[in-house]
Amino acid sequence: MPHIKVAPFALQVLDRLVREDSAVVFRAEAVTKSAYPNREELLGMHFEGERFALELHRREEAWLIKPEKTTRPLDANRIKRSLAYLAEKGKLDVLYDNIAVSPGRPPLAEKYARRIVDFETLDSRGRPLAIEVGFGSGRHLLYQARKHPEILHIGIEIHLPSVQQVLKQIELQGLTNIWVVNYDARLLLEMLPSNVATAVYVHFPVPWDKKPHRRVISDAFVSQALRILSPGGVLELRTDSERYYRYALEVFSRPETSRFDVTKNHEAAIRSKYEDRWQRQQKNIYTLRLHAEEKSPEPVREVDFRFSRPLKSLDALLMLPENTILRTDHFVHFERRYRMVTEEGVLVKCSFGSFDRPEHKLLLVRSGTAEYYPQPPVRSLTNARAHHTIGEFVHV
Ligand SMILES: C[S@@+](CC[C@H](N)C(=O)[O-])C[C@H]1O[C@@H](n2cnc3c(N)ncnc32)[C@H](O)[C@@H]1O
Repeated sequence: MPHIKVAPFALQVLDRLVREDSAVVFRAEAVTKSAYPNREELLGMHFEGERFALELHRREEAWLIKPEKTTRPLDANRIKRSLAYLAEKGKLDVLYDNIAVSPGRPPLAEKYARRIVDFETLDSRGRPLAIEVGFGSGRHLLYQARKHPEILHIGIEIHLPSVQQVLKQIELQGLTNIWVVNYDARLLLEMLPSNVATAVYVHFPVPWDKKPHRRVISDAFVSQALRILSPGGVLELRTDSERYYRYALEVFSRPETSRFDVTKNHEAAIRSKYEDRWQRQQKNIYTLRLHAEEKSPEPVREVDFRFSRPLKSLDALLMLPENTILRTDHFVHFERRYRMVTEEGVLVKCSFGSFDRPEHKLLLVRSGTAEYYPQPPVRSLTNARAHHTIGEFVHV
């Protein structure tokens, strides 16, 4: 994680930047319940067109400045540049840093990176879609994109370094028909319109034998996949796990509007690193292909993440409950709280939503309005219910 360590300095330096420099937009300090003085600050940044926060930890000898995890930009070089910018503008005495931007490395093909919220207004310019879930090294995703230039390939992967690696490959290979998203795939399908995809690939998903609720394949995932596939489209699962295979057989058997077929040790056109390894170990590899046969109606989605009623006082918002609020299908947890120093306001770190794919956001309250920072949550129904619960606590 890029960071800098600087010699202690007067915090007013940061407040001056907030007043004078459009890249630094607020400073907030953590509210602690104990008698110990606060030692953590949050700095709001609006840098190179992106909103995010930096954390400042005031330790004895050196102060640490690093990106705040839930708002961290995808491009590590942007974080590095923002830290260098802050150090320069604040004339900070840098004692240590790891923010050198490596020369010679291909830049991230940022224009092909998408945020999950971008899918609320998907514009594929009429191109059909193919979705790959958990693309890992990206061999199959890149291969498909080369082979089918007329299709827009959307790869979704939870592991950030894999996303960065594939973005570099997109640049190196000059591809223009891939979008890459760093997020939990189980949410993506919910965001897409119906009948838009020719294929959904799930190759060698993590079997999660001990935590089956974390599996990508589930009844909900399969029904969303069938909804977004156009008739004739295919959900393709490949796995080396006997247990996952048997589980998927059951899940794939349930929908009535589709049929599926199974092949064993089918030779794929392109093999991933995982597949190479399983083949060396002479494991069986199962391919299940579920075929969509019917057109699906568009989903009804009315989700509004605004806070439109009067809010509690700032002091009351700092006292939101600490315990997790549990509801039947979602939860809300108010975590660390910050009081803004450079204007009247508070920030509350919170996690909420479904138990297996929670959202992490900052709730930013100032000038009598509240918003999710840096952008609203994913428009899923579970998040909408969690937003309603948050409203119960923050409205008067
Ligand atoms: C065993 S690897 C397989 C990678 C690749 N498909 C292949 O065949 O080589 C599983 C991949 O799925 C990703 N993954 C696991 N759960 C995910 C989720 N919920 N959403 C997106 N990606 C996920 C992991 O980060 C990992 O890269």
